[in-house]
Amino acid sequence: MVNLSHAELDKQTVTKAYDRWAPVYDLVFGAVFERGRDAAIAAAERVGGRILEVGVGTGIALPHYSKNCRLCGIDISEQMLRKAHERVAEFGLSNVEGLWVMDAEHLSFPDASFDAVVAQYVVTTAPNPEATLDEFVRVLKPGGEIILVSRVGAEAGLRRALEHWFAPAARKLGWRTEFSFERYANWAERTGGVRLIERRAMPPLGHFSLIRFAKEGGTDAARPGLPEETYPAARVAH
Ligand SMILES: C[S@@+](CC[C@H](N)C(=O)[O-])C[C@H]1O[C@@H](n2cnc3c(N)ncnc32)[C@H](O)[C@@H]1O
Repeated sequence: MVNLSHAELDKQTVTKAYDRWAPVYDLVFGAVFERGRDAAIAAAERVGGRILEVGVGTGIALPHYSKNCRLCGIDISEQMLRKAHERVAEFGLSNVEGLWVMDAEHLSFPDASFDAVVAQYVVTTAPNPEATLDEFVRVLKPGGEIILVSRVGAEAGLRRALEHWFAPAARKLGWRTEFSFERYANWAERTGGVRLIERRAMPPLGHFSLIRFAKEGGTDAARPGLPEETYPAARVAH
């Protein structure tokens, strides 16, 4: 397993990369990631309440949430967030409580602040993904959900070889290509108190997944998830 260190994808590189992406981000990554965003939003709306969008970027997802959801957004890139502010004003999104420049690994919200933490196409761009996921758990209320749309690297074959070959160039653009699902599974097992409830392949080409974790402690008996047999790969190994 490749374990990328902090130094291999540092905050400065990521911030600079997304500051550069900001003017064209929606054009390049708008439509291609739409289905993943829609799936994450649908999952978040089922939880409802107060939702944190981590790596909110240009705010591309914000107008698509129900007005009943209260939304907070954070991003490490000031230029991406500037676009998000423009979008909030343009669409008159009164359900957006605030947008902040903030590092996902060090969230300045108190414990148990949110019903759901949503991160679309973000965790594999964070310099320290596991520490970032730890922060999501901290700010989540018991019974709340972490809802990710994330790239999942191939475990074998040509795609895996290509992902590893492309990895150094991808890091300069601000993302990882070779992030394995095992890292999520290992993180959940180590962390405790979180349970994988869904993994569903997402376009393009099924290279991404919708991944949902529930934080224990709430009344989650009625929590909707896919029937277990439709996502066997999602099971966390014990
Ligand atoms: C691929 S973009 C995804 C944007 C948006 N969520 C979407 O659905 O298109 C990744 C975003 O995560 C942000 N990001 C990366 N690392 C971050 C970190 N450590 N803290 C906060 N935001 C981060 C980037 O600045 C960028 O806006």
